[in-house]
This record gives sequence, C-alpha cells and structure tokens, in this order.
Amino acid sequence: MSQARILPYDHAAIAEAARLIGAGQPVAIPTETVYGLAADATRPEAVAAIYAAKGRPSFNPLIVHVLDLAAADAIADLPTAARTLAEAYWPGPLTLVAPLKAGAPIAPLATAGLPTVALRSPAHPAMRDLLRACARPLAAPSANASGAISPTRAEHVLRSLGNNIPLIVDAGPTSMGLESTIVAVDDEGLRILRPGPITADQLRSASGLPVLDHASADIEAPGQLAQHYAPSKPVRLNATEARDGEWLIGFGAIAGDVSLSPAGDTIEAAAHLFELLHQGDAAPNPRIALAPIPDIGLGIAINDRLRRAAA
Ligand code: TXA
Ligand code: MG
Repeated sequence: MSQARILPYDHAAIAEAARLIGAGQPVAIPTETVYGLAADATRPEAVAAIYAAKGRPSFNPLIVHVLDLAAADAIADLPTAARTLAEAYWPGPLTLVAPLKAGAPIAPLATAGLPTVALRSPAHPAMRDLLRACARPLAAPSANASGAISPTRAEHVLRSLGNNIPLIVDAGPTSMGLESTIVAVDDEGLRILRPGPITADQLRSASGLPVLDHASADIEAPGQLAQHYAPSKPVRLNATEARDGEWLIGFGAIAGDVSLSPAGDTIEAAAHLFELLHQGDAAPNPRIALAPIPDIGLGIAINDRLRRAAA
C-alpha cells in the first residue's frame, strides 16, 4: 500500500473514511483520548485488517465504539451499574466490559473470542460523525504499530502506520492524550482493568458500588492471553491430516473439515480463527487438529494464539 493520505477533518474526509470502512479497510480517526484505527466491527476480514496494519503479534480484544447506550444495548447485556456509568460518563473516555449479547453482530475476532465485549461511546465529533456515517459499531484500537506509543497527533499515526493504512483523518492533537478507563462491572462491584481519565473515585460516586482491588479480586490484566478464549478440547497443531477423533481445521492445500483459508491467506485465516475454534469446540469430535500456518504476516499472531490454545 502507498503512503496514507491525511485529510483535514471535514464532511468530505468523513465521507471518504466511511467509504473505505465500507470497503473493509481500517482508517485512522481521532477520539478525545488518542487516535484510533477504526474498522467495521461486524466483519471478520475488516477486523483482521486492523491487526494486519498494526502488526500485532497476538490478538488482543479490541474496544468496540458505539454512538450511544441504545447501540451498546444491541451488543451487550449491560448490568444496571454499567448503564448508570454509561449515563454518567458517555460520551467520554470510559470503556465498559460486559457480557456479549447472544447473537450480537460482532466479529469474534474483535473480542478475541471472549464472551465479553469492551464498549465505549467516544466524545470526539470526528469519531461520532464516522459512527453516524457508517451506521455500525466500529472496532478501534489505538492507531499505532504494535508495541509503539499511542498516537495523539495525525503525524504520530503517519510515522507509525503510514505505510499500512489508506487514510488518516486529522483533527489536530487529541484533548486527553491518555486512553480510556476500562471497567468491568459485576454483582460484587467494579474492577478497573486499565486506569485512565475517569478515576476510581468518580466511578465509585457515580455507581455507589465499591471499586475492587485488582490483586484481591484476582483478575487478569486486560490483554493478557490467559483470559482469552481457549477451546475446551485438546488441540493438536501442525496437523497435515486428521487422526482418529479429530476435527481438522485446514489451511491452504490442507482442506480439513473446514478451512481457515483455502487460498492460504493469513488475513482471511485470522478473520475466521475464533469462529472455527468455536465450531471445533461444538463439533462431536473429541479433539481438534489444525493445519500448519506459516509464521508470516498475521500467521505470527495466529500461531501465538494457537500455541496457547494447545498448551
Ligand atoms: O481510549 C481508548 O480506549 C482508545 C481509543 C481509540 O478509543 N482505544 C484503545 O484501544 O486504547 P486498545 O485496543 O489499544 O486497547 C484496548 C484494551 C486492551 O488492553 C484490551 O485487552 C482491553 O481493552 N479489552 C478489550 N476487550 C476486553 C474484554 N472483553 N475484556 C477485558 N479487556 C478487554
Ligand atoms: Mg493501545
């Protein structure tokens, strides 16, 4: 891909960003916290394109951005306390983690196969205009290459991802410069999974619930793969054929019972990975086997994920 275009934030820039997202591509767009790399959260290939552009060596679940609480209700089963927090701080730098609604139209890759989803209604007018123009939820991690610092200016995005994405919408520096607070809500209270602009005191006073300590609550930090989806069955990797009792997930020349990508494309394979692992879990066979995936492009992240699934 050639160098990203930078368009100043206006009506035409949002129209072009919406057109690219409609074509399954990720675009960089400012939020009030940091610039995000947004794509259609309902389409597996579009979400895979985010990971490909960022060069992520593993699949962290992404934040799904929505216009308002009504849009969030279509995606997650929000506990009362989560609704209260959304009413207090949305639109704004607060991300709520809640159970994914059955049948919600979110690509499993966006949640890395988790039964929960992270939702945020951003305040920045550019991101809100884009959400309105696309009329669908947008998955958006920070718009930086994996391992690099979160971008607060269009130039940061250009330096980090300029060769990997088609468009950066430029609305100047972001106002907060710090990623949203991430909170998981359950019956016992609130757990801050990532500290951010909305503080524990604010969360406590708005919800009337205690903010539980990380350590004592014994939770995993966000993004840690231990909490990610793993099949309940034994998984054998680098399988060139199915042995007795195995449900084979193919790739390329190895057809299998189903295939991650008959064409041997790692982006397509990433798009279908979690969906097919779920299918394998639901299949009558007692074991799952996977064809070898080359360690190139998104294959690196796929293999990282599979090694953990097989461990
Ligand atoms: O301010 C922000 O939140 C920015 C802007 C663009 O909205 N976005 C952002 O996204 O920081 P990202 O992908 O860089 O960080 C998402 C964080 C990761 O640490 C991830 O592990 C966590 O959210 N996360 C996402 N879904 C989760 C879930 N279901 N459970 C726990 N953590 C989750
Ligand atoms: Mg980030």
